[in-house]
Amino acid sequence: MADQLSTTDLLRELEPVVETNLNRHLSTAKEWFPHEYVPWSQGTDFDGVLGGEAWAVEQSTLSDVARTSLIVNLLTEDNLPSYHHEIATMFGRDGAWGTWVHRWTAEEGRHGIAIRDYLLTTRAVDPVALERARMVHMGTGFENAYLDDTALHGIAYVSFQELATRVSHRNTGRISGDPICDQLLGRVAADENLHMIFYRNLLGAAFELAPDLAMRAVCDVVKTFQMPGHSIENFGRKSVQIAMAGIYDLRIHHDEVVIPVLRNLKALEATGLSADGEKARDELVEFLAELDRQATRFTERRDKIAATKAARAARA
Ligand SMILES: [Fe+2]
Ligand SMILES: [Fe+2]
Repeated sequence: MADQLSTTDLLRELEPVVETNLNRHLSTAKEWFPHEYVPWSQGTDFDGVLGGEAWAVEQSTLSDVARTSLIVNLLTEDNLPSYHHEIATMFGRDGAWGTWVHRWTAEEGRHGIAIRDYLLTTRAVDPVALERARMVHMGTGFENAYLDDTALHGIAYVSFQELATRVSHRNTGRISGDPICDQLLGRVAADENLHMIFYRNLLGAAFELAPDLAMRAVCDVVKTFQMPGHSIENFGRKSVQIAMAGIYDLRIHHDEVVIPVLRNLKALEATGLSADGEKARDELVEFLAELDRQATRFTERRDKIAATKAARAARA
């Protein structure tokens, strides 16, 4: 019967869980200040209005792929107004849901501020190209891909997305070669982890409330998952570069994002499913096996390319 719940009923039923998790979040999250993470002493005026020095790539110590990944992560954060619109529409702006929506938005806003300040101060990125890319990306906006589905699809999506974003920030920091960048992105990644826990706990409660709907939502979302920044210009090319560098690839997606969330929810062992729920779980299991195979194929291909390159370099 629970699986006949409408979205409104579901959101109402989940509200006490939202309140508990909001309070847990507020007592766990540590206040932090973006300005403390930015090496302002490295900054200088740019050309244009202030007549400073124009940007040139040699001014940056970052590798090309670290730069690409930071740009993708920043543009993803920049699209916050669209995300706010989508989650405020989905969850509403009242009660504990509304408090969460606003708090989450404010925390995400900090990420874009911090990363932009770091990139501009260290001259890590062409400021004109970055601003133009931001205009194009925000001009496209972000649309919840599960508008025609249940609110649980939205909750499932953000559970995986927050963890994907966490991993992406953390690994970008690691390969940046700049301890200051690593420290900043580590801080941002810690926030994304708390966001993931919040949504994953809601999803866990949904599995108890409406197991068939929750299983269907998780199955659909895992099968169609796209990064939140997928509408960034040239995202395909950028994401290949990011995958080749091991910042975010299919293996990481499978092992460090999808499986940990499913394991925590005990989704694959969920009991009390009807035929619909069982069907969704079977689909999910089948998809995971294929994802795992594709991940293995990708890493094998990447290893082969790396070996060829190394052999060529040794001959040169
Ligand atoms: Fe963020
Ligand atoms: Fe987040």
